[in-house]
Amino acid sequence: MSSILADRMAVLGTETSFEVLARAKALERQGKSIIHLEIGEPDFNTPQNIKEAAVKALYAGYTHYVPAAGIPELREAIAEYISKTRKIPVDPEEVVVTPGAKPVIFFTILACVNPGEEVLYPNPGFPIYESMIKFVGAKPVPIPLKEENDFRIDHEYVKEKTTEKTKMIILNSPENPTGSVLTRDDLKLIADCIAERDDLIVLSDEIYSRIIYEGSHESIASLPGMKEKTVILDGFSKTHAMTGWRLGYGVMRKDLAEKITQLVINSNSCTCAFVQVAGIEALKGPQDSADRMVAEFRKRREIIVEGLNRIKGVTCKKPKGAFYVFPNITGTGMRSKELSDYLLNEVGVAVLPGTSFGRYGEGYLRISFANSAENIKEALRRIEAALEKL
Ligand SMILES: Cc1ncc(COP(=O)(O)O)c(C=O)c1O
Repeated sequence: MSSILADRMAVLGTETSFEVLARAKALERQGKSIIHLEIGEPDFNTPQNIKEAAVKALYAGYTHYVPAAGIPELREAIAEYISKTRKIPVDPEEVVVTPGAKPVIFFTILACVNPGEEVLYPNPGFPIYESMIKFVGAKPVPIPLKEENDFRIDHEYVKEKTTEKTKMIILNSPENPTGSVLTRDDLKLIADCIAERDDLIVLSDEIYSRIIYEGSHESIASLPGMKEKTVILDGFSKTHAMTGWRLGYGVMRKDLAEKITQLVINSNSCTCAFVQVAGIEALKGPQDSADRMVAEFRKRREIIVEGLNRIKGVTCKKPKGAFYVFPNITGTGMRSKELSDYLLNEVGVAVLPGTSFGRYGEGYLRISFANSAENIKEALRRIEAALEKL
């Protein structure tokens, strides 16, 4: 019998964190105590001023369709914010607002990459990159991130793998799942590899740009000649603890912004109107909640890195950004998937196998520290006990 599905559905990937979350919740329903360290979202509440702005906007009538690329006031606020933080001039017409930042990945790959073209992307990396590259019929070319290089991209590798078929390079700094951060020198060297190429686009995923513990966030778009070639992805989910609101954006040259807007019109029409008003408050209102959240993550980072390094068979580098650690577990003698299953079933600690982020994630786990210090300490005790039993 023929399938009701189009062929392209066979290559579409997914995010296993949602799957592990569902398994962990099922165990919880059976009465088991679970510590959730699998989820990629801040455990903090959206700041009060942002919630109030949304409620006010609802009552003020922001309940209708709005322009597809975003309401002008939010596009202006984003342009101002990106100009200031990335030190480049940005026009509001270069901003497209989307429901969460994820559609920027979806739309940019759909708009720019042809079947048969090649896309370089970090591996281990956010799984949606590879999924979307395959979905459009392009060839995924993984850039392995190695622990000995602090999980940063090796520009020599980029140089070697960039061919006339390469259409896009995806960067992600701070990186999910490793917490690595690209320096300005790293970015310069990567930019040099593509200096001659005007037909190549960089998708720079900067969703964790404000969650950084050492050094500063640098964007490849700030380098000479790179703004025109770069789509900056950023948003509100992580910085302002707004994952459920679905609000993100892309910053790109105007002609591309128009095409991406056309994809918005063809899919979701526009982003929720009152949520966009809340986004203006998030950018222009007080920033102390965001700063406090990062300060708290910084404390937890110390606890979790120190705790993991005390466990036999586990070593863990200190991440420079985001809220994940990516410990090396090869000393346990177990494979990533086997160990993450064991920790969930045996001691109720939900983490993700490194392989959820690609094949170069074998030998690692991704553990989120978006949970309280108390819960992190308890999880460390449980992991240690589980590994001692082996
Ligand atoms: C690297 C990376 N990019 C993009 C996103 C998507 O963000 P949003 O929830 O705003 O769609 C995430 C979320 O986990 C992420 O980790």
